[in-house]
Amino acid sequence: MPDQWWRDAVVYQVYLRSFADGNGDGIGDLTGLRARLQYLAGLGIDAIWVNPWYPSPMVDGGYDVTDYRAIDPVFGTLAEAETLIQEAHRHGLRVLADIVPNHTSDRHPWFQAALAGGPGSLPRQRYIFRPGRGDDGHLPPNDWRSVFGSPAWTRVTEPDGHPGEWYLHLFSAEQPDLNWDHPEIRAEFESILRFWFDRGVDGFRIDVAHGLVKAPDLPDLGIDNEDILAPPDRPGHPHWDRDGVHEIYRGWRAVADAYPEPRVFVAEAWVESSGRLARYLQPGELHAAFAFDLLRAPWRAPWLRSAIEESLAAVASVGAPATWVLSNHDVVRHVSRYGRPQPDRPLQSLAEMLAEAPTDIDLGQRRARAAALLMLALPGSAYLYQGEELGLWEVEDLPEELLQDPVWERSGHRERGRDGARVPLPWSGDTPPFGFSPSTATAPPWLPQPEAWKRFTAAAQRGDPESMLELYRAALRIRRRHPALGDRTLRWLDAPPDMLAFARDPGFLCLVNLSTQPVPVPAGARVLLASSPLTAGRALPADAAAWLAWSAKPDEAA
Ligand code: GLC
Ligand code: CA
Repeated sequence: MPDQWWRDAVVYQVYLRSFADGNGDGIGDLTGLRARLQYLAGLGIDAIWVNPWYPSPMVDGGYDVTDYRAIDPVFGTLAEAETLIQEAHRHGLRVLADIVPNHTSDRHPWFQAALAGGPGSLPRQRYIFRPGRGDDGHLPPNDWRSVFGSPAWTRVTEPDGHPGEWYLHLFSAEQPDLNWDHPEIRAEFESILRFWFDRGVDGFRIDVAHGLVKAPDLPDLGIDNEDILAPPDRPGHPHWDRDGVHEIYRGWRAVADAYPEPRVFVAEAWVESSGRLARYLQPGELHAAFAFDLLRAPWRAPWLRSAIEESLAAVASVGAPATWVLSNHDVVRHVSRYGRPQPDRPLQSLAEMLAEAPTDIDLGQRRARAAALLMLALPGSAYLYQGEELGLWEVEDLPEELLQDPVWERSGHRERGRDGARVPLPWSGDTPPFGFSPSTATAPPWLPQPEAWKRFTAAAQRGDPESMLELYRAALRIRRRHPALGDRTLRWLDAPPDMLAFARDPGFLCLVNLSTQPVPVPAGARVLLASSPLTAGRALPADAAAWLAWSAKPDEAA
């Protein structure tokens, strides 16, 4: 069997615009990424996932694509992407790209042809156009809401100058949804996959994998609120997680499996349960899917444990690996999520994550250190979001006039959106741009960096054993070598309700203390790594985690 590297890979998410700027225009690019491959290899990861790099008007950070077979000039060229892929491979890193199949940009030639073609024309069939309701069709065809706020329909002006049909967009109006009942769409995306596989891409993260298929009659939903994090609230939802998506992914899997070296897919699918998620991972479908329940869980032992247990059980039922993630470019960074009072239920919305209480960054970082050891000790694969290895927090006070996320406008300025998780990384130095751009830069970083990040640059943390960066490096080093870590299973050990304790065989224990008191570490266990120093009495402090080597009977540990 070929090496199933994705089953326990640690994948680092590169949000390209904010990773490293090579040419000094204030926007991250491929040149910047290439220059930092050594850093990534030194971190100890196995692969990178690069957010969309295609030509785009950037209304939604590149998730509005005009050409799926090219690179946006702001990021570089196709030739440079090919060079990046080869260089990453030479560093031992695999490369995942990001495919956006639910919608295109409204500037995509297909959508331009649909607008020009008029009602009933063949190009319109590639999207979801409908006449409006009400007198003269002035009301949207149904009550669906955009994930970013406001109705999910926009009315077009027809070529004759009159107001005409409406088109569906589950995200911004500049992101019209494709009609996946159209055979040409299916063929086109399989061809796009081959285009990148032929250039050495090792796999794809699939954007909005649960959204492609809509109920044919587009029935009303009867509710007026959707959030990017809210899983569908009902069976048979008319546009999320419909059974018809699975046939599409069986086709994609066949495309991937035609290559001698494994090519893999990881789904972004916000679905109602781990059981529904496992359906994407059935044999002959996708390789992996993010277990967002862990990301949505509050920093409380019962919620974390049930998210882990349910996800492990669900993936085991289909023979797939679990895929853990604590942060990404769509959610509030977990330092800021954990650095405030924790609710007693899963998080439902982005706005809710930044509730009234201000972030206690020290507390958030302490918990984030423990969370990293928890996640990296779990069976399966893990995704890191750029900057979490530096302990970065959500930038909550970006000036309003600089906000770029379409959520800000579409919510009528009620939700600030996701820019606070997308601020360019601090690499070195004492003042912005902190090495993000070269010293010859002609523009500041596209979002301003907090002054306080001078203590959190990669250079400042390098070699400091107490830093977040060195914690991640140590954890990844141990994870790579320890025979118990990576794929397979865990055994929960008896522990008080506000502790998590599990064993990985052979000889490995992970303890996480979510109580407010120090908890003694079992005598006879050797500390491999701890997220905070143990107390003088060899106890694990509150909000800390430890990795232990354990040779006695593991059940005696707790
Ligand atoms: C996914 C992406 C997000 C984007 C949306 C629309 O959720 O992660 O950033 O806005 O899809 O493409
Ligand atoms: Ca640049």
